[in-house]
Amino acid sequence: MTALTTPPPLLEAHGLSKVYGGFAAVGGVDLSVRAATVHALIGPNGAGKTTLFRLLTGEVRPTAGRVLLDGTDIGGRRPHVIARRGMTQTFQITSLFRQLTPLESVQLAMLATAGHAGRLWGRAATAHRDDALGLLDRVGLADFALAQSGALSHGDQRALEIALALATRPRLLLMDEPTAGMSPPETERVVQLVSGLVHAEGLTVVLSEHDVDVVFGVSDTVTVLHQGRVIASGSPAAVRADHRVATVYLGEGG
Ligand SMILES: Nc1ncnc2c1ncn2[C@@H]1O[C@H](COP(=O)(O)OP(=O)(O)OP(=O)(O)O)[C@@H](O)[C@H]1O
Ligand SMILES: [Mg+2]
Repeated sequence: MTALTTPPPLLEAHGLSKVYGGFAAVGGVDLSVRAATVHALIGPNGAGKTTLFRLLTGEVRPTAGRVLLDGTDIGGRRPHVIARRGMTQTFQITSLFRQLTPLESVQLAMLATAGHAGRLWGRAATAHRDDALGLLDRVGLADFALAQSGALSHGDQRALEIALALATRPRLLLMDEPTAGMSPPETERVVQLVSGLVHAEGLTVVLSEHDVDVVFGVSDTVTVLHQGRVIASGSPAAVRADHRVATVYLGEGG
């Protein structure tokens, strides 16, 4: 049986729902994310993408359904416990990080991950310096390692956010609209960065993105949400050819 030789999905959702006052923001979603792939969640405004992300990361408790990471039910676990199992997400840079250099920021994230948060400041100047420089190089920020993070361009700040997430050494990275507010070239850069990490390092990425052309270009699997439900899921070509997708989503822009 070929099914026995296929590795299990890294992340799964079964019958996942979130009901707010009788309204199902997410209504019975099944999802299967294979390791070392880019899996996109797309859908019109209000389709339930952000709610689904928050269910997957444990920020929001499901009304029903289960989330499995590596076959283990992570339902009800706190986000930091889930993070220790290798799943993380990108966060917007906080005001603290905006005052640091990208190098300092990544060093701090690495120190915190290694469990030395109480002794951060004394050691930050030297700790993990080479690793941090290497990581900044991988996300295209080598030339800005000593700049002030808050002064970076929008695209460079998103790249730094990805570096900070990667500093925790995740296997699975969740990104809800990582390219929001970016110019097309900045979007292209971030998307190429992410897909490069997937292919070179075996990272697994789940992302949402409004630019459908970008999604189809970079994703291995695309899941389309509409009114809280999955209406199509598969390869970009299969999803592109699905008439329901064209009707509820792709047709919108003409
Ligand atoms: N905390 C909440 N309480 C009540 N309703 C909510 C809550 N969070 C989300 N919703 C509703 O659930 C639906 C899905 O919202 P969600 O933000 O998940 O959509 P989305 O696909 O991320 O949309 P967008 O493309 O605009 O980011 C929307 O109708 C929204 O108003
Ligand atoms: Mg959203």
